[in-house]
Amino acid sequence: RPGAQRWVTAGADVAELARAAQGCRGCELWEPATQVVFSAGSPTARMALVGEQPGDQEDRRGVPFVGPAGRLLQRALEEAGISRGDVYVTNAVKHFRFSQAAPGARRIHASPDLAHVSACRPWLAAELARVDPDVVVCLGATAARALLPKDFRVTRHRGQLIRLATSRGEKTFLGTIHPSAVLRVPEEQRPEAYDALVADLRVATSALG
Ligand code: URA
Ligand code: SF4
Repeated sequence: RPGAQRWVTAGADVAELARAAQGCRGCELWEPATQVVFSAGSPTARMALVGEQPGDQEDRRGVPFVGPAGRLLQRALEEAGISRGDVYVTNAVKHFRFSQAAPGARRIHASPDLAHVSACRPWLAAELARVDPDVVVCLGATAARALLPKDFRVTRHRGQLIRLATSRGEKTFLGTIHPSAVLRVPEEQRPEAYDALVADLRVATSALG
């Protein structure tokens, strides 16, 4: 049966999960990728940020959000008064999915399918259960698909605090735009898109009390 579940050990901490994920073959994305990209930040954080999947630079370095989207996210977090050391950062899918015209050619980001999100979800479930944050921020539609109700739409529901039942009791979730999507907004509207991301992150911190 496909999926990461058979690699996930019950009771494992984040470091142990990250190590076990190196051997995951829960879907086909591991094969063309350089390495698994698990998580970063504090394993005792009260806030978790969930992205889509590692990008080209994350795949090479083995660390989430270190490329252009990560730099934008870093700035937005600082502006929202959130220190990166105080959050836990991870992705819905732990291997980089890309297309490539020829070996050695530029690797082009390809969005993960729902099948990849489902296959990888045991890692996300296990790490969130272990970190047990009070607030989980879903960056973009893929993270929202992994964690939020099916009818959630970033355009319609972004920036709203959503209370959901989890294995660790009721928690607060918030969906917002992905930092990569901010980078794709035409330059004239980009400051506004960036400010809206910062505003949503501020709403998320307000839920920490
Ligand atoms: N985009 C993501 O969703 N995650 C990363 O780690 C990097 C870019
Ligand atoms: Fe396993 Fe997730 Fe990588 Fe697929 S993407 S091989 S489920 S870690």
